[in-house]
Amino acid sequence: VVHDTEQTIAKNRLLPVVVIDDAATADPLAEALVAGGLPCAEITFRTAAAADAITAMAARGDLVVGAGTVLTPEQVDRAVDAGAKFIVSPGFSAAVVARSRELGVPVYPGAATATEIQMALDAGLTTVKFFPAEQLGGAAMVKALAAPFRQVTFIPTGGVTTDNLDRYLALPSVLAVGGTWMVAADLLKNRDWAEVTRRTTAAVERAGR
Ligand code: 3PG
Repeated sequence: VVHDTEQTIAKNRLLPVVVIDDAATADPLAEALVAGGLPCAEITFRTAAAADAITAMAARGDLVVGAGTVLTPEQVDRAVDAGAKFIVSPGFSAAVVARSRELGVPVYPGAATATEIQMALDAGLTTVKFFPAEQLGGAAMVKALAAPFRQVTFIPTGGVTTDNLDRYLALPSVLAVGGTWMVAADLLKNRDWAEVTRRTTAAVERAGR
């Protein structure tokens, strides 16, 4: 399972970050992503609807769903119970990493500095979320951090748009690029699934699959 999930993320090189307010929209949202050629999503534990949304998406069987903004081991349990296949944190929590590993799900902690990358390495991980990517210096910063950490791959997230996406995708150290731009809050609010698919298709084309 670990292997399949990581392969899907690595193959697609894009990770839509979803902040969902209404679990009833999870299914049409998943449909829109899949229609755009992107069979994965990170549902953030920032809203009460997150666990139900993960359950609904995981039940479809046509996309890999993970949980984001996971801050505690209890949230890891809830996420995995709901069907999450990977765990993402904004920063490094040894407790979240340990619980994820116990449950056998890939975990991508946030790292913003070389020290935080070394914390992830010490915990036995080689992929980190680079967050908040654009504010920390963007693709140039990822490239600089990748130089000493040759075994590390990054999931830059935060401030990514169609204007800067290509700069991240151009880096071999970038496993996948994360962000909300394909599934922006206004699109979810207006249930504009056609626009989700349009933005997803455009990003997938750039990721050059
Ligand atoms: C995240 O949790 O990864 C970020 O909130 C996504 O940032 P973005 O909205 O700038 O893409």
